[in-house]
Amino acid sequence: MNKTAQAASVFRKTADTFAAGAKTLPQQYFVSEKIFKEEQTKLFARQWVLVGHQSQIANAGNYFTAQVASESVIVVRDQRSSIRGFYNVCRHRGTRLCQDSSGQVRAIQCPYHSWTYALDGRLIGAPHMDEVPGFDKANYSLRPVKLALWEGFIFVNLAPARNASTERGGYMPLEEWFAPLAGKFAHWNLPVLRSAKRIEYDVRANWKLIFENYSECYHCPGVHPALSKLTPYDSAENDLSEGPFLGGFMRIGKGKSLSMSGNACALPLGNLQGENHSRVFYYSIFPNMLLSLHPDYVMVHQIWPMSPEWTCILCDWFFHPEAAGVSDNSYNPDDAIEFWDMTNRQDWHVCELSQQGIASSAYKPGPYSARESIPAAWDREYLRSMKD
Ligand code: FES
Ligand SMILES: [Fe+2]
Repeated sequence: MNKTAQAASVFRKTADTFAAGAKTLPQQYFVSEKIFKEEQTKLFARQWVLVGHQSQIANAGNYFTAQVASESVIVVRDQRSSIRGFYNVCRHRGTRLCQDSSGQVRAIQCPYHSWTYALDGRLIGAPHMDEVPGFDKANYSLRPVKLALWEGFIFVNLAPARNASTERGGYMPLEEWFAPLAGKFAHWNLPVLRSAKRIEYDVRANWKLIFENYSECYHCPGVHPALSKLTPYDSAENDLSEGPFLGGFMRIGKGKSLSMSGNACALPLGNLQGENHSRVFYYSIFPNMLLSLHPDYVMVHQIWPMSPEWTCILCDWFFHPEAAGVSDNSYNPDDAIEFWDMTNRQDWHVCELSQQGIASSAYKPGPYSARESIPAAWDREYLRSMKD
């Protein structure tokens, strides 16, 4: 673990980092089309946005598409095993290239006039274009999208490059952006994990409500009776309490996990140290990732705002790549999946109820409790990012 991560690992009780006077956001942030568009251009089109995990495209030619802000992006593993990102736009007359959300191809071929691109983006086939004086295929590769990996997770960034001479504008390189988390999750082996299940949720609530809800357990006793039996709702301690990365841990029993049975349901993810066997870590990673690390599995939510009042959520459950092959019946992923599917739906339900009330003329920003210091910090980071 490097110095940055060590310095960050001082855990404080949630209420101890509360900034007095913090209130929820005004109504417009949850209902306004104008603010929604601003979020798309200022946050989703400028920051590093989670689109998937490298295990989703394990072999050359595997691809998936993602809609980031107003752009459709192709993420593909090329013949040399590099992962690349391209705008899903043909260089001939602009046609959408890949229409499916995932698949396997030898090359990317346009459905219109069959221009064909290699997996590294080079135009390799353009029927009859040799009749066009001066046409050179080398000038018409697919437009690349900046893409980088953090702990095996694939992020893209649509911002223009930073001006090298002034160090201003554009995006921050991924390693720099993630520097505060460097080495922090090394023991969980995130790059090699595999998703055993993905569930897609459609939630009739603003995307920020999903983050705010994830960031506190003040609601746990009433909303999550089963979760509250496994993890004391007031056991949260956070090591990241300001900025784009927020969160910490909650306690569970040693050898236990968050599952229907309450027991661990797969091989430990790695060589977890000390108390990490009896902790579940929850981190929000601005602007669209929720990372929940259990001793035996990792749950990741991708948060995709669709409209001010509608959010699409992709939830994956990742396990050790060898967990399924263990012969002692210890692998029971459904134990975890069922538990969190139930808990997720409880969360989405209260987020939808919040959305309904916030849309009312009676809504005014309300006071956060001291146990909601992390949602208050998330709101501050959100407002800072919207100002930039
Ligand atoms: S638009 Fe793609 S080949 Fe013509
Ligand atoms: Fe919850």
